[in-house]
Amino acid sequence: MTVAAIAAQDIAPAPCLRPVPARGPGPGLPRMLTGDRPTGRLHLGHYAGSLANRIRLHRRYESFFIVADLHMLTTKNSPADIAGIGRRAADVVLDCLAAGLDPAHSVFYLQSGVPEVAELSLLLSSLVTVPRLQRIPSLKEMGRHAGQREMPFALLGYPVLQAADILAVKATAVPVGRDNAAHVEVARELARRFNRRYGAVFRVPALVPADVPVLPGTDGRAKMSKSLGNAIYLSDPPGEVATKVRRMYTDPARTGPGVPGTVEGNPVFVYHEVFNDRPGEVAELKERYRAGKIGDAEVKEKLTAALNRFLDPIRERRAALEADQRCGPPWA
Ligand code: TRP
Repeated sequence: MTVAAIAAQDIAPAPCLRPVPARGPGPGLPRMLTGDRPTGRLHLGHYAGSLANRIRLHRRYESFFIVADLHMLTTKNSPADIAGIGRRAADVVLDCLAAGLDPAHSVFYLQSGVPEVAELSLLLSSLVTVPRLQRIPSLKEMGRHAGQREMPFALLGYPVLQAADILAVKATAVPVGRDNAAHVEVARELARRFNRRYGAVFRVPALVPADVPVLPGTDGRAKMSKSLGNAIYLSDPPGEVATKVRRMYTDPARTGPGVPGTVEGNPVFVYHEVFNDRPGEVAELKERYRAGKIGDAEVKEKLTAALNRFLDPIRERRAALEADQRCGPPWA
């Protein structure tokens, strides 16, 4: 299924231009929590990997979205990183709303703005051992990625802080990617251990797996990522999308438009598959590509057009939100 197949009614029109009910999302529904570190603007990889899933799910829950600035500090904490948190947090929230999360069904909050989260994390840290946390591979990977030779204390506690996020709002559903599954497991263990010792306080959360393939980068590397510089952002203007697509990696063995090409694993076709809302066009492009009856340039032009059809309403909603005073610039 393409991400474009998200039903229109699942996407909010222009969220902030409608009055937001004071009480937030509907009570009585099960609670969901997920979130992001404030790393800035979101890209197509975020959309395919998590946003699409959130948009599909969020009205079925009382939905909470945390902007996890304290988590960011575990690997990025230079004065410049810290000074940029407000702007980057705003970019994450704007992109989520522009992509289709409805603020009438969602609560967005900044982690450091709710000090009880850090307090709960400290209390939970007495209920987990260092070796248990040392066994989590994603943390070592994050430390290495951040250029750390040894594990910072706060990074080891990353899953405990994440457990505090989840347990604090008593969320039962936590939609996250595979890289976060081990953290949700720690949250489940901590909820059970706490409840056994002190009485039934917390709900035991469940992972809602986002069963989506990772989107490759424009350079053909396995993952689209800001740090690899191979991303197309949801807020990129149309001309920039065109430039990035023109430079995209395709089948390296193909020396000309008359040579049969490989579609499988070719990032240009992966994007067509995920974002092009015209499946007939995609099928035809694939057929001609395999037969050596089309140039890369035409396949890319069609991709640019498809991506811009997909991004146009997102960019429009983002501009409306940025112009809306009630969404004001919180970073100013
Ligand atoms: N760990 C998540 C990430 O990879 C962000 C996050 C922080 C989170 N707290 C959370 C996700 C609670 C789900 C639930 O960026």
